[in-house]
Amino acid sequence: MKHIKKIKIINVVGARPNFMKIAPIITAMRKEKKYINYLTVHTGQHYDREMSQLFFKQLEIPKPDINLGVGSGSHAWQTAKIMRLFESIVVKYKPHYVLVVGDVNSTAACSLVAKKLGVKVIHVEAGLRSFDNSMPEEINRILTDRISDMLFTHSYDANLNLKKEGIPNKNIFMVGNVMIDTLLRHRSKAKHGKILSQLGLNKKDYFVITLHRPSNVDVRKNLKNIINTLIKISKFKKIIFPINPRTKKNLSKWRLLTITQKYTTLTPPLGYLDFLNLMANAQGVLTDSGGIQEETTILNVPCLTLRDNTERPITVEKGTNTITNLNEVKILREIKKIISGRRKRTSAPPLWDGRSAERIIKIIKKYV
Ligand code: UD1
Repeated sequence: MKHIKKIKIINVVGARPNFMKIAPIITAMRKEKKYINYLTVHTGQHYDREMSQLFFKQLEIPKPDINLGVGSGSHAWQTAKIMRLFESIVVKYKPHYVLVVGDVNSTAACSLVAKKLGVKVIHVEAGLRSFDNSMPEEINRILTDRISDMLFTHSYDANLNLKKEGIPNKNIFMVGNVMIDTLLRHRSKAKHGKILSQLGLNKKDYFVITLHRPSNVDVRKNLKNIINTLIKISKFKKIIFPINPRTKKNLSKWRLLTITQKYTTLTPPLGYLDFLNLMANAQGVLTDSGGIQEETTILNVPCLTLRDNTERPITVEKGTNTITNLNEVKILREIKKIISGRRKRTSAPPLWDGRSAERIIKIIKKYV
């Protein structure tokens, strides 16, 4: 901090998984008010109460200072609208840095705006690669990392990916996982929730499924295959299915909602604490989410990832994650293994210890 007295940062959030990532960073920034002046901008990419506001309350962080209210639309429409609206904020506030997390459209859009205005970009959760360019998130990750000035990673494989792409070593910092900071902070509080009794569940006696990837839920054949597999699993165990709006829309459009309701317990999207409690007490989780692969690893709950690949290989190497793609035979085999107690041995990845945001703030203070 040679030349600058107080560092001005704009924190950006947009979609549900961003909130768990920004929460510990805001908490750490609040402790450093002497050095850091920050503003939080919500793009409004997610806007339903249970996809957005609820998280700020439960994660005990202040509401965003500005909400751009962008809403849903095609990728180009959404990205362009975020860029147009965010530009005037950056021009007005004149931050030294724009800090983005994760890999959603808001992440890439705001990084691009900042960089073109000559403002440095900090990317938290940098370096993840699925090597699958058909995923919108992969494009967002590549673009954001390429123009970021400080890249905070959560695993050594992410560092390696960045180095292979020519990012200078001096810009890469392995700090651990901010999402796990949030999980560890709220884990005991989540235990007191009532979601298990509300849904009539016994601990370790049900599976949870979440689905939202376009490759799974926007392709009728794939969504139908998944529902058929769930019907088979439901013969052994109860399945709880907190349903994402995108998934619900498509189940409804393709007349699959009634059958899904018959064989699984559908709930609306759950708040952070209820979902954490549900996941922690499940016998296993099936998902296509990235964050859930990480959270189940720390909770020591088996996770089957219904995708062909993962940008989080550490959860397979060290954690509870198994990639099954949509292969029904493989999924049912893994489910039976889990039920019979034949579990993978696991350990926590390095630095997933609840102190990642603290490390980030320390490094920002040191390097500015
Ligand atoms: C987005 C992210 C994805 C992230 C996911 C977490 C991108 C490209 N995708 O996907 O990386 O894992 O969020 O949930 O940024 N909708 C609502 N209410 C809301 C938000 C969305 O009803 O609050 C509906 C709208 O119909 C919308 C659809 O869900 O069209 C999809 O929302 P969108 O933000 O485009 O993508 P997600 O699938 O949520």
